[in-house]
Amino acid sequence: MKDNIQSIEKRALDDMKAVESLDQLDSLEVKYLGRKGLVTSFLRNISRLPAQERPEAGKQANFVKLKLEDAFRSLRERVVSMGSSQSQGIDVTLPGRYIPRGTLHPVTKISREITGIFSRLGFEIVEGPEVETDYYNFEALNIPRYHPARDMQDTFYIAENIVLRTHTSPTQPRIMEKQPPPVRIVAPGKVYRCDSDLTHTPMFHQIEGLMVDRDVSFGDLKGTLTAFVHEFFDEDISLRFRPSFFPFTEPSAEVDVQCVMCRGRGCRVCSGSGWLEVLGSGMVHPAVFENVGYDTGQYTGFAFGMGIERLAMLKYGIDDLRKFFENDMRFLGQF
Ligand code: DAH
Repeated sequence: MKDNIQSIEKRALDDMKAVESLDQLDSLEVKYLGRKGLVTSFLRNISRLPAQERPEAGKQANFVKLKLEDAFRSLRERVVSMGSSQSQGIDVTLPGRYIPRGTLHPVTKISREITGIFSRLGFEIVEGPEVETDYYNFEALNIPRYHPARDMQDTFYIAENIVLRTHTSPTQPRIMEKQPPPVRIVAPGKVYRCDSDLTHTPMFHQIEGLMVDRDVSFGDLKGTLTAFVHEFFDEDISLRFRPSFFPFTEPSAEVDVQCVMCRGRGCRVCSGSGWLEVLGSGMVHPAVFENVGYDTGQYTGFAFGMGIERLAMLKYGIDDLRKFFENDMRFLGQF
């Protein structure tokens, strides 16, 4: 009987060495110390022993019981703390988790590419506000009241004289008011028009350019924009300057590039003409200089403006403008 309690103790301590979880620990504790457990049964059976053996056996069994209770308590503490360190994710043996890498939005990429080309040509990058006054968006740019470009259908009005800018051109009078010539800037940003269909979204992006100095000529305009188109598209893409009209430039020209899809042979993208319109430009109108206080006798300048989505579509062969704003990661991740 005495041997028996010692062998129970030894088996209990051996079993405990293999415990790895709280579940295993619980069932082991029940096996030895539960109501029908081995130690408990042993204690209950002491009454059947011969009277003279009972005191010693009881003493031994109670001693083992206390010792095992103690051992179970400290093993429980160890198992609990093991479990909590695992749940904090410090298992250094686990393989690493894949973290998908973000990409730049194609509009951001193309915008940076364009401003990068102009900054290498000596242009500074500036920005203007998207919520703009009527004055900078129209008046200062020689677009008087009742001009068709002010039609309520095109312009989002925020208040009587406050609009969401309809183009990036207001950055021109803003920068000229602040500094005397020479000026050489490009200004990328969002613009807004109350228009939405297959080829128009209410918000899109433009880049404005402006150069003012003594003796700036239409030849400088042509040279600068030709250098840009060749760098952005391709060295041997031809371009043409087509007479046009903008209230803030005189003379004005729209610039077409040879269709980048068919190389001028005529296709669906260029409607068979072989040419694609990519930007508006011209020599700064004297009325604009007068509005900002520049001396029209001393200074001349050129300006241009282009749509970023349009250039991105041509460069990447994207056929639907709305893809830029749907935020489908399968589309955006390609660039
Ligand atoms: N602001 C014009 C537009 O949104 C584009 C433009 C044309 C800008 C000629 C210019 C320019 O600076 O000279 O359609």
